[in-house]
Amino acid sequence: MRNFIFSIPTTAYFGKGQIKVLGQTIKAEGGSKVLLTYGGGSIKQNGIYDTILEQLNTAGLAYVELSGIQPNPRIESVEQGIKLYRDNNCDFILAVGGGSTLDACKAIAAGVMYAGPVNDLFVDASGLSSRIIAAAPLATILTMAGTGSELDMGAVITVGEDHKKKVLLHPLVNPRFSILDPEYTYTVPEHHTMAGVADILCHLMEQYFTPDVAAKVQDRMNEGVMKVVLEEAPKLLANPQDYDARANIMWASSMALAGFQFLLGKPGFAFPLHGMGHELSSQYDMTHGVTLALLTPAWMRYTMQAAPQHLPVFARFARNVMEIREEDDAKAAEAGIKALEAFYATIKMPLNLREAGVKQEDLDGMAAKAVENGKLGCLALLGKDEALQIMRMAF
Ligand code: NZQ
Ligand code: ZN
Repeated sequence: MRNFIFSIPTTAYFGKGQIKVLGQTIKAEGGSKVLLTYGGGSIKQNGIYDTILEQLNTAGLAYVELSGIQPNPRIESVEQGIKLYRDNNCDFILAVGGGSTLDACKAIAAGVMYAGPVNDLFVDASGLSSRIIAAAPLATILTMAGTGSELDMGAVITVGEDHKKKVLLHPLVNPRFSILDPEYTYTVPEHHTMAGVADILCHLMEQYFTPDVAAKVQDRMNEGVMKVVLEEAPKLLANPQDYDARANIMWASSMALAGFQFLLGKPGFAFPLHGMGHELSSQYDMTHGVTLALLTPAWMRYTMQAAPQHLPVFARFARNVMEIREEDDAKAAEAGIKALEAFYATIKMPLNLREAGVKQEDLDGMAAKAVENGKLGCLALLGKDEALQIMRMAF
């Protein structure tokens, strides 16, 4: 296992009714005028909005609102938020929603402290986002589980006419605190709930499928969280208001990327499935989690074939997570992939790119864009040809 530093600078207030700490905690963090942001209005329909205003008013906090942040959030929303924050002399940001609203606010938090265009702050080809030297204080109220944005240092923003998804990654944009009430996710439509499940699972897999360096605590904990996700998701199909299933899926979302804890001490911060999946979202505005479910089985099969020395990691996943009982590594790994495909079918993910509406003639361009910042992956390195091969296998 390699050396590492572990730090999660976000406090989680988890469980029913935790919203009660909102006003006082913003004040304790030094906030007096809040930029309150949300998406397309689900928080008004399910009553979360009213509860928040009550908290802000009771604590004597002033606020201005930025609404309408869309899924796969665009840089224009970020720029709007930066202007609102500055024009109104805000000193705190409160993001309410799923990953899209949270991510937009992380970019706003960094952007308000930077004199140049926010576009400068994204991770570049060298993998660094060194220009973030300060960020406004941010808190989040999560209403949809999946991305892990509530406890992590990442944000993904859609930029430009070609809808490129750019990543911002810096511990300074970790929220100061996040309120995680599983009841707030009761109203998430089934499709988005299950896309969130696919996203959580992929975050765990992207940290699991690395060269094996005996990071046993990380891998065993990861296997445990993956098994919980596989067990709990079908319960939500049967009953969206199953509190314990919502709670376990929500905490799995937060734990999956908190401090990238399952990647600690392991080589490679690679996330190749995300690299390719973001191109599907750019081209088709496809829901993030769906892109990952579509590509994962093909990527696994490709990687086992191209880098057979890593087959034991896939066989271990099959046995320890998918409960495959088979001694031969290759057979076990393939059975594990089939079991994963069956799970994706259970949670109603489309089975292949064709079924998801992708056009074959777009694959080439998407593969090229996926690797324009450099090759992807840490088991088998993926350039354009390899990414294209995987997309064809997933078609
Ligand atoms: O906008 P509203 O009206 O709130 O509706 C949203 C939206 O339409 C709805 N929703 C959320 N909570 C709800 C609800 N509807 C009813 N009741 C509720 N309680 O769900 C829809 C999807 O919301 P969105 O925020 O887009 O989903 P998600 O959380 O999956 O976020 C996706 C974004 O996060 C990025 C993705 O790339 C994508 O842009 N990611 C961020 C990461 C991070 N920060 O670390 C990592 C991830 O890998 C991912 O890339
Ligand atoms: Zn993701």
